[in-house]
Amino acid sequence: MAQCHERLDKHLDDTLPAVATHPVRLHEAMRYAVLSEGKRIRPALVYAGGLAVGAKQETLDAPACAIELIHAYSLIHDDLPAMDDDNLRRGKPSCHHAFGEATAILAGDALQSLAFQVLANNTMAGVSDSTRLKMIRILARASGSRGMAGGQAIDLAATGQSQNIAELEDMHIHKTGALIRASLVLGALNGTHIDNTQMEQLDHYAKCIGLAFQIRDDILDVEGEASTLGKNPGGDQSGEKSTYPALIGLDAARLRADELHAEAINSLSGFDASADPLRLISLYIIERER
Ligand code: IPE
Ligand code: IPE
Ligand code: MG
Ligand code: MG
Ligand code: MG
Repeated sequence: MAQCHERLDKHLDDTLPAVATHPVRLHEAMRYAVLSEGKRIRPALVYAGGLAVGAKQETLDAPACAIELIHAYSLIHDDLPAMDDDNLRRGKPSCHHAFGEATAILAGDALQSLAFQVLANNTMAGVSDSTRLKMIRILARASGSRGMAGGQAIDLAATGQSQNIAELEDMHIHKTGALIRASLVLGALNGTHIDNTQMEQLDHYAKCIGLAFQIRDDILDVEGEASTLGKNPGGDQSGEKSTYPALIGLDAARLRADELHAEAINSLSGFDASADPLRLISLYIIERER
């Protein structure tokens, strides 16, 4: 993960317009939100997913960048007063606190566009135009109304409402699972040796860890510390959010995350040691403290 982090941050830095580029304040806000202390889990999944099926690392930089840009945009908008109204993100004032709401909204918009520009333009040696188009299609679907943005809409509609477990799971699968699933697919599409069965196995792995990721996020919102998390805990309860711990309790939520990790590992049983990074990321997801 540390290797991916360093490699990705260099690419993000090169990709984002320089602060001095007109309009300066917008570019400053975009860089502020992206080049901060994120865990870079989704890019790590692009690299690890690609590695498991023999993709060349140089073909994975563009999709890794693109997915992190979409994720950063989703966090800026998630923190806005009209959504979760959070003032701390990645250990710093959230984007709208630092730059004002209007600039934060535009920074999110522009990061979303930039993600697709990266997939359309960046060098991906040996990647065919049809694969490039597939990547664009996958990322568009995963971030739109049938994916992340749709999940956020479900999240807002569920505020103060009681959801059953199936509804809660559906919300998590959309708001968080969709981008995590897309990360795996974007990496695996560049694989040199992958068949349909392996693609399905990777996709099943991704579904499990995507859900586990949001369950852990919900648990940390109850028991985490702002200094470690880099964001303020407690917002789910005060904002009457529908979460795993609220619906089934902390212990059952932990158990569910453990089960999903086991299922994720199981779906990789046909893969050799080249999938070990994926196995470790799954464990990291359920054990992480930030
Ligand atoms: C937070 O995602 C938002 C969710 C989808 C739960 P991360 O926990 O990956 O946030 P960063 O990128 O590390 O800040
Ligand atoms: C956000 O979920 C999911 C996104 C698509 C951004 P949360 O609202 O739980 O994320 P945090 O806890 O603010 O990072
Ligand atoms: Mg939210
Ligand atoms: Mg939030
Ligand atoms: Mg949360």
